[in-house]
Amino acid sequence: MRLHQIPVSLLLPPSPSSSFSPRPPLYRCCLAALSSNHRTASHRRLSTDSHAPRPVIGQDSVEVLGGSYPRDDFTNVTSKILAKVGRNLHNQSHHPLWLIKERIKAHFYRSYMGRWGNPLFSVHDNLSPVVSVEQNFDSLLIPPDHASRKKGDNYYLNRNTMLRAHTSAHQRELVRSGLDAFLLAGDVYRRDQIDSSHYPVFHQMEGVRLFSNHELFSKVQNGEELSLFERGGRRTPHKQEAHTLEAVKLVEFDLKQTLTALIAHLFGEDLEVRWVDCYFPFTHPSFEMEVRFHGDWMEVLGCGVMEQELLNSAGAGNKAGWAFGLGLERLAMVLFGIPDIRLFWSEDERFLRQFRVSDIQQPVCFQPLSKYPPLHNDISFWLPEREDGGESFTENDFYELVRSIGGDLVEKVSLVDDFTNPKTRRRSQCYRIIYRHMERTLTQQEVRLVHEQIERSAESELGVEGRY
Ligand code: PHE
Repeated sequence: MRLHQIPVSLLLPPSPSSSFSPRPPLYRCCLAALSSNHRTASHRRLSTDSHAPRPVIGQDSVEVLGGSYPRDDFTNVTSKILAKVGRNLHNQSHHPLWLIKERIKAHFYRSYMGRWGNPLFSVHDNLSPVVSVEQNFDSLLIPPDHASRKKGDNYYLNRNTMLRAHTSAHQRELVRSGLDAFLLAGDVYRRDQIDSSHYPVFHQMEGVRLFSNHELFSKVQNGEELSLFERGGRRTPHKQEAHTLEAVKLVEFDLKQTLTALIAHLFGEDLEVRWVDCYFPFTHPSFEMEVRFHGDWMEVLGCGVMEQELLNSAGAGNKAGWAFGLGLERLAMVLFGIPDIRLFWSEDERFLRQFRVSDIQQPVCFQPLSKYPPLHNDISFWLPEREDGGESFTENDFYELVRSIGGDLVEKVSLVDDFTNPKTRRRSQCYRIIYRHMERTLTQQEVRLVHEQIERSAESELGVEGRY
């Protein structure tokens, strides 16, 4: 796709929907309202720190972090996305994502010691986001036909290689390397909708802890009689076939206690927290933690008891363990009161200097920059028809196209109308695109240029037929 060259600044004013409430007693900061729908290799390059050449999408290959990946029918990564690879915001000193990562590390270092007073959890924040499809999915027992593998939801370099969609992609390799307790922070990539809480690149922190029979039961009365595993057990909603109920209950208790203590450390004791049962292919039982935020429950992390088959394949078949994955942007937005996820990419001093504290525990309350008006424009088109009657167009394809042309000028894209002509069965959609710049007022004219480019590209790239 040819990219329209538009100078794009990442800074945006707070979205009109954000509001501030008096801080609950133990919160350290003002809190911006977030909606409850918020969220979260064969090349074997382990470090992303190298001064690798700039990523390029060539005719035949994609070059990124010093590796070259032949293009094929799965290649869908764009140059705008590749340009983010290697930015490593989580490793940039005093960036808000770095700050929250450091607070989490400090909490784990202080709270969990090994036998010799050493930190129990090792921390890894430099694993390459370029992973094999096998790492991202198969290693986690995600079936070949699972919906999460869709091209429309991920950034593939080719059929075998992708930008990781979650930090869980590294669970197996780190367990295999002999680690029993680790934290792992990194950038993750997902094709998604566009609004103040979704960005195609975000950051996660993964945590894993394994227990041997002795470690789990030594503190329990008559613990020496208990066992992690049972033969001929059954999988129930509460446990896997391989585990004894008492093992699962202790692992689950430790997991929930660890995460509750972490959230209390970050947000204060008074935060209301609840556990919701859910499903992940690589944990069972699985849970999500939600926190009460401005009256709404907001999901902040996923976790569970690791599937024993995963541990067996990683050479840790004599241990049982838990894993969690949390979204760093979401936590930082709540903790610091950052109203828009694009702000994390800002290089503007007015944003960055607010996080330059001498002590990482010092409270930070983000002062929104001045606010410039939004401009919105609608776009309507007929969707392409396929001969077999199926559909070749997905909403994420359109969001991707808008991102690759409008970049961070685009604050939000929403589907405002979806219509099927009852006679012809032709389907049309209308999207509203909200444009906004944080450092200045956009002119109608510059927005029109971008918008027209989006209209043209939607026709040429996606095969839609404009209704304008
Ligand atoms: N990887 C999951 C996600 O991104 C979160 C998760 C991590 C769930 C570890 C369970 C265990 O949604």
